[in-house]
Amino acid sequence: VQRVRKMGSLNFIDLRDRYGITQLVADEHNKEVNELVEKMGREWVIQAKGTVVERQSKNTKIETGEIEISLTDVKVLNAAVTPPFTIEENTDGGEELRAQYRYLDLRRAPLKRALELRHKMAHEVRNYLSNIGFMEIETPYLIKSTPEGARDFVVPSRMNPGEFYALPQSPQTFKQLLMVAGYDKYFQIVRCFRDEDLRADRQPEFTQIDCEMSFVEREDILNTFEGLAKSLFKNVLGKEIEGQFPRISYADAMEYYGSDKPDIRFGMKMNTVTSMLQGNGFSVFDQAEYIGAIVAEGCASYTRKQIDELTEFVKRPQVGAKGLVWIRVDAEGGVKSSIDKFFTPEEVKAMAERIGAKAGDMAFILCGEKFKTLTQLCTLRLEVAERLGLRDPKKFAPLWVVDFPMFEWDEETQRFYAMHHPFTSPKPEDAHLFDTGELGKMRANAYDFVCNGTEIGGGSIRIHDAELQAKVFDALGFTAEAAEEQFGFLMNAFKFGAPPHGGLAFGLDRLVSIFAGLDNIRDCIAFPKNNSGRDVMLDAPGPIDQSQFDELHLKVELPE
Ligand code: AMO
Repeated sequence: VQRVRKMGSLNFIDLRDRYGITQLVADEHNKEVNELVEKMGREWVIQAKGTVVERQSKNTKIETGEIEISLTDVKVLNAAVTPPFTIEENTDGGEELRAQYRYLDLRRAPLKRALELRHKMAHEVRNYLSNIGFMEIETPYLIKSTPEGARDFVVPSRMNPGEFYALPQSPQTFKQLLMVAGYDKYFQIVRCFRDEDLRADRQPEFTQIDCEMSFVEREDILNTFEGLAKSLFKNVLGKEIEGQFPRISYADAMEYYGSDKPDIRFGMKMNTVTSMLQGNGFSVFDQAEYIGAIVAEGCASYTRKQIDELTEFVKRPQVGAKGLVWIRVDAEGGVKSSIDKFFTPEEVKAMAERIGAKAGDMAFILCGEKFKTLTQLCTLRLEVAERLGLRDPKKFAPLWVVDFPMFEWDEETQRFYAMHHPFTSPKPEDAHLFDTGELGKMRANAYDFVCNGTEIGGGSIRIHDAELQAKVFDALGFTAEAAEEQFGFLMNAFKFGAPPHGGLAFGLDRLVSIFAGLDNIRDCIAFPKNNSGRDVMLDAPGPIDQSQFDELHLKVELPE
């Protein structure tokens, strides 16, 4: 029972189920039915019998708005206590409370829509991939650590005291072993587990559409999964995406968008203007490694207040810029800027032109260390776009980012890490860089699928050659023994005839949330964790009995 209403002498019930709302009306002459209806409260579970009749006053807003059911009989199957928040499209319940009563929140239409969408997408994925010869194969959850870069969740083994399983961060090594085993087109909709810091698009357990193929090159993979993505857009959202998805190299993505997951629903690319803006005696520019600019089209009308807000925005510790330089080009082409006292009007005008700001535009400039400044410009670009309403959740701009760096240098530990994972193949034309030691320059045969500024998927062509794999392990600082100890099972398998192979994994939660226009992947997961990794409904994680510790030969020592 969504609600009971009395209008005049008539009693109405809005009855809710998975499919929507149906109005029931009690026959005003049936005293017994009316007495019962008047007692009913929200969320009661009832059984009703009656005749479907045309409504006197129709409700065009709901699907069943033209009919109602004239009740002849009604039975209470279960009464309900008053729910702690309203179960409506827009509820009065706070996030924490709704998480605690997730089963009640799941009764609300927005969550129902998200789960329906998720089901539809998973169904479409299975159909599409099965139709082109992929086989869904399950892989174990209790495994040995997989090197995806996050921390593992571990599970103690009662039968092997002192030893632990790890929950898979992905089925990466298994799918490669399936290629060795001859299952040349594999997929699995599979749960993955990563103990990492959580954010809006990260859950400690999440679902991947995991895929691998044999005898393929990068193009085969990109084309296959572009086909899958297009079929999802078409069959789930009814959106036809014409032509090939754009492919941008990692280097260009960083240079023009300051991000390896650019939002290309709109332009506003970055301009590098370092050399042009230096040498005029403005020390802030002169000392900078990099100067970059974006043009906010049609924003010359920005008020002082709006500019101040953006300046504060980029100076927040999360963004970290020291300040924001702006140049306004008015409708007549005249310029005004925050650096007027350091430059002549002609110089500012030339800057604006070089940056690409036309009459009516506003240019924003940031400078400093290159990578940091690019990242700050990216954040600014997204913020300006948000304010201009350019990040329309109903618009979709998918693309591939390709040619990622093979290795990432970590200052803290003073070593290289694999940017994707250690089984990723370098681009053949870069493999000679192992000999020259220029690991930082080496590009990987790796790619990401990006949509609307979110990384939805990633993958690579794998190494299937033991010698090359040994070089990668060596570059990552593994001794031959350590590599053998951790990945011996895979290296050994490759000795028995391993086909060239590659694959990728899409994050299903992210894909669904983008399709649904949600801000947080939590909203398309039936029972998600909160930002501290807790299930507040179950109150998990929680303590276990001493007997369980004893059985596992475990002892916990908490820090003081
Ligand atoms: P990767 O680590 O890039 O690749 O993960 C693939 C995709 O999984 C999603 N994802 C997540 N979604 C929600 N919460 C998380 N914590 C989370 N972590 C990752 C993202 C991401 O793009 N084995 C490789 C794939 C391969 O090489 O084939 C892998 O797991 O959408």
